[in-house]
Amino acid sequence: MAKLALLGGKPVLEMALASYNPMGQEELDAVTKVMRSGKLSGFVGAWGDDFDGGHTVKQFEQDWSKKFAVEHCVSVNSATSGLFAAVAAAGVGPGDEVIVPPYTMSATVMAPLVYGGIPVFADIEPDTFCLDPASVVQNITSKTKAIIVVNLFGHPAKLHELRAIADGQGIVLIEDNAQGPLASEEGKLAGTIGHIGVFSLNFHKHFHTGEGGMCVTDDSKFALKLKAVRNHGENIVEPLNIDDLTNMIGFNYRMTELCAGIGIEQLKKIDQLVSRREQIAQKLTQGIQGMSGLTPPQVRPGCRHVYYVWALRIDRNRIGVSRETFCQALRAEGVPAVPHYVKPLYWLPVFQKRIAIGSHGFPFSVSSRKYARGMCPVVEQMHLKELMYLGICSYELSDPDVAAVLAAFNKVYACLDDLQQFERTQVQQEVLSV
Ligand SMILES: Cc1ncc(COP(=O)(O)O)c(C=O)c1O
Repeated sequence: MAKLALLGGKPVLEMALASYNPMGQEELDAVTKVMRSGKLSGFVGAWGDDFDGGHTVKQFEQDWSKKFAVEHCVSVNSATSGLFAAVAAAGVGPGDEVIVPPYTMSATVMAPLVYGGIPVFADIEPDTFCLDPASVVQNITSKTKAIIVVNLFGHPAKLHELRAIADGQGIVLIEDNAQGPLASEEGKLAGTIGHIGVFSLNFHKHFHTGEGGMCVTDDSKFALKLKAVRNHGENIVEPLNIDDLTNMIGFNYRMTELCAGIGIEQLKKIDQLVSRREQIAQKLTQGIQGMSGLTPPQVRPGCRHVYYVWALRIDRNRIGVSRETFCQALRAEGVPAVPHYVKPLYWLPVFQKRIAIGSHGFPFSVSSRKYARGMCPVVEQMHLKELMYLGICSYELSDPDVAAVLAAFNKVYACLDDLQQFERTQVQQEVLSV
């Protein structure tokens, strides 16, 4: 049996995996066209034809509307900006509660705080790592204004169920679909099931514009608010005779013509780019079938998972070594396995110290919500013990690369006894060094 690279053997992958690069000549031509026009942005922060941006931005939004079958698309310069705008559009203000998952990129849970709202953490489901509707229901109060659900790692949360809960309570469901373009539940695209959906076009995603994002909605009132927040909304209140000034202060969340030009071309390739990630993930999943103690990503019936990352659960009791040691061995073989995702976000200092805006504790000072460790046991279990992943949107992953990744999994799995011995030695050394 080949010796583990961790113990001095030869690694399975001798060269680092190539970085993912979905850009082609089409994107280059699009950028050149905008550059030659000299008009790199078409926005003006006042009511008029240019309030909604330049011709390329408008074209990108129209193309997106068609592809995702939504009424309104509002491009932004990041999904973070999009989430802030969505929370504003939902009318969130000081003391309003917004239910969020603790397992996501931090921007999801910062968005309510920006408007003085209080993030309330509901737990996740262990099979898909997405918000658990039962935990959401337990956390709804008379102060709940919105729910932000994340289609984590590219798998849709229980979106129809959450939409029904939101509609039943008169609250707004915002989908953070940064990681799930073309994911779907019961034939409907993720990002379009909530009242507002937000997509990311940052460099790490299935398709991208460097930085960027898109908000989508079928509701014209939300669309106008999103546009106002994107582009100095305070200036359109008078010309449009808007009486309700709630969250009408705008920012500059505008997308450039350059990014929109790239986005138009990327959007044409989205089916192919997403399907390739899906194929890679399916091959990886098949390749580890039968490795007891490793649970590949689950796909709920009726759902399409688009695999922003390929996330596994590890049962230490069955494989006999910790997730950290297992990933260490894979990394030594050249597989960039990561032993955990983010910390449960309520562990961040902003929640533990309850200081967000200014230094006087606002908005936490208007709420009795506490952020105790242990409050979401499923997420803590995933973070501390079980979840590991491979960022398959970060690497090109040709068929031979996928075969090599699986060969590394097979090799490490076949050498679990050696790995257990390695782990025991490490522990002994740590004890001796104390
Ligand atoms: C779930 C989620 N939400 C929001 C964001 C923020 O996206 P952006 O970088 O476009 O602001 C990300 C980015 O990784 C994300 O993964």
